[in-house]
Amino acid sequence: MTAGRTLAVVGAGAMGGQIAYQAALHGYDVRLISRSDDRLRSASTSCATLLRRRVEKGTLDGDACELTLARVTLGSDFAAVAGAETIIESVAEDRDVKREVYARICAHSDDTAIIGTNSSTLPSSVLEDAVSHSERFLNVHFFNPALLMALVEVVPGPHTSEDTIVRAMDFAQAIGKTPVRLAREEYGFIANRILFIAIQEAMRLVQGGYISVEECDLAVRKALGWPMGPFHLSDLVGLDVVEAILDEGFRQTGDQRWEPVEMLRDLVARGKLGNKAGGGFTTAPS
Ligand code: 3HC
Repeated sequence: MTAGRTLAVVGAGAMGGQIAYQAALHGYDVRLISRSDDRLRSASTSCATLLRRRVEKGTLDGDACELTLARVTLGSDFAAVAGAETIIESVAEDRDVKREVYARICAHSDDTAIIGTNSSTLPSSVLEDAVSHSERFLNVHFFNPALLMALVEVVPGPHTSEDTIVRAMDFAQAIGKTPVRLAREEYGFIANRILFIAIQEAMRLVQGGYISVEECDLAVRKALGWPMGPFHLSDLVGLDVVEAILDEGFRQTGDQRWEPVEMLRDLVARGKLGNKAGGGFTTAPS
């Protein structure tokens, strides 16, 4: 338990919400900031449901659960980042949106705060000019679902100080995660670089008529020990997110392995985004 520490999370989507509650679970006072009341409500409701289910299953103490929920303050005012020694940005993967968010964060943040972007596609070096003290800025990349997945990738840019890297590693550990430190930026970092090329290969096999979606998922689970197959996982991550990660990978590396396959493009174009909307490879339309 880490008493007396404060985290601000900006962005209350699926990732930001769970990062906030994960930190609260480990004793942090958390300010969760979003311009959308709906997102804030949905993050707090879904995380409360997930944590209370742990209480029912006996894996989390009831009082600890209620204390955790009470440690998260919801709001839209960026002034709430003042006093936070760690700030995690987890807004849309859009450079302009992120730049605007950094301007607002930097207007209120403490001079010593570190800022971690949860971006999976934008290395901090392409955004660092939007941050006042870029020596305290880097990628701190979580995995979906963030309340469960242990890994956090800590990725410094050339501008990031050693002290910031150490603090980001300590923060990830303090909230119960297993951090890995990259030496330098590389598209996809570690896990996504391996995962998304594998997902593309799975899609190519299905698109080529070699196997069905269901049997490919079964094969990968049974042969490689993945907890869910590549199609089930793509539906969890969101097909629009999968497409965006692949598109950006192609743009940044020029390597054709990243170029999204036709069947993925087609599903996204038809509004089939996976679990969150419209259904996907393995889920029915919502
Ligand atoms: N959010 C939070 N908790 C969830 C969840 C979700 N979306 N889905 C399931 N859970 C919880 C359940 O509540 C349950 O918790 P409990 O034990 O306290 O009751 C627990 O997970 C197990 O649930 P299930 O038995 O229903 O399902 P599984 O045994 O299949 O476990 C899983 C679910 C942990 C998500 C597992 O399938 C898994 O590890 N899948 C792979 C996830 C993965 O690879 N993530 C990385 C994606 S890539 C990424 O995030 C990078 C980014 O840049 C895009």
